[in-house]
Amino acid sequence: MKKVLVIYFTQSGQLNKAVKATLSPFENRKDIEIHYEQLKPKSAFPFPWTYMQFFDAFPECVQGKACELEPFSFNPSEKYDLVIIAYQPWFLSVSVPVNSFLQTKEAKQLLKNTNVVTVLACRNMWLNAQEKMKTVLKSLDANLVGNITYVDKAPNLVSLITVFAFALGGVQHKYLGIFPKYGVSEKELSTKAPQLGDIVLQHFLSDNYTSMQNELIKNGAINIKSNLLLLEGRGKVFFPIYANYISKKGTWGTEDRKTRVRIFGIVLPTAILILSPIITIASRLAPILFPKKIKKEIEYYSGNSIR
Ligand SMILES: Cc1cc2nc3c(=O)[nH]c(=O)nc-3n(C[C@H](O)[C@H](O)[C@H](O)COP(=O)(O)O)c2cc1C
Repeated sequence: MKKVLVIYFTQSGQLNKAVKATLSPFENRKDIEIHYEQLKPKSAFPFPWTYMQFFDAFPECVQGKACELEPFSFNPSEKYDLVIIAYQPWFLSVSVPVNSFLQTKEAKQLLKNTNVVTVLACRNMWLNAQEKMKTVLKSLDANLVGNITYVDKAPNLVSLITVFAFALGGVQHKYLGIFPKYGVSEKELSTKAPQLGDIVLQHFLSDNYTSMQNELIKNGAINIKSNLLLLEGRGKVFFPIYANYISKKGTWGTEDRKTRVRIFGIVLPTAILILSPIITIASRLAPILFPKKIKKEIEYYSGNSIR
């Protein structure tokens, strides 16, 4: 009997749907046992979020601070043949509940010398979060053997509006009657996800993951656009600076830092609105001006190695 452990967190259920659809080829097999472990913060994150709650989560999220989690139901001393970590980026970082899990002694015990596949379901900016994930997994001596990403396929500025309507207003369907539904499409989950899951299954059964990521990439498991690659590059530099600036005034929820949080809540969407079109033009030029560099960057972020 081979054993799979799925560690996941979700607020709206999107990530749960994505990982279940991906693992559908693993289900109902006599030779595989799957344990789903949903992470539950002791003090739940709100959903939908208020404007202040949303932006107040930013500093500690970027700084990788942990929250307390409810006890786990899996046994960390058990040896799993594969651990799936299904997570979402928050502010270009690993979401707080999943990042908190990675800092526990149970994660340390569980993940040492264990094969890991990451599954992400998000808006469209996941590169930096996955770099942080790679770094943590490396420090835990885990073997990252695969990565699958599901994103919202709408243009960046459209999904910026719909993700806010979703996270702050709880509206997923046709915001204002004109915007598309936020999130990963049902079609992608019903058709592509099981195909990707089947690729993982075949490698899992043969216990050889050497060519898996390339096969996943060929089948559409990785979504990288050069404009978002450049936009994330800006965020990566700016986010830690502003996170430190806010946290100098206090921690999570403190009254003293509210003004700085409020300013950030205005600056961030405005910066994305202004930078997005500029970066889109730059990203059209970049592959012409620096074709090798852009190709190399996309190849790097599609893979599981770490610089
Ligand atoms: C606080 C917060 C920050 C987010 N930041 C990002 C981000 O940086 N990149 C991204 O692609 N999506 C981001 N999202 C969207 C999430 O990745 C995800 O799509 C959404 O929260 C739904 O996931 P869930 O309901 O399964 O938890 C963010 C969502 C929240 C709540």
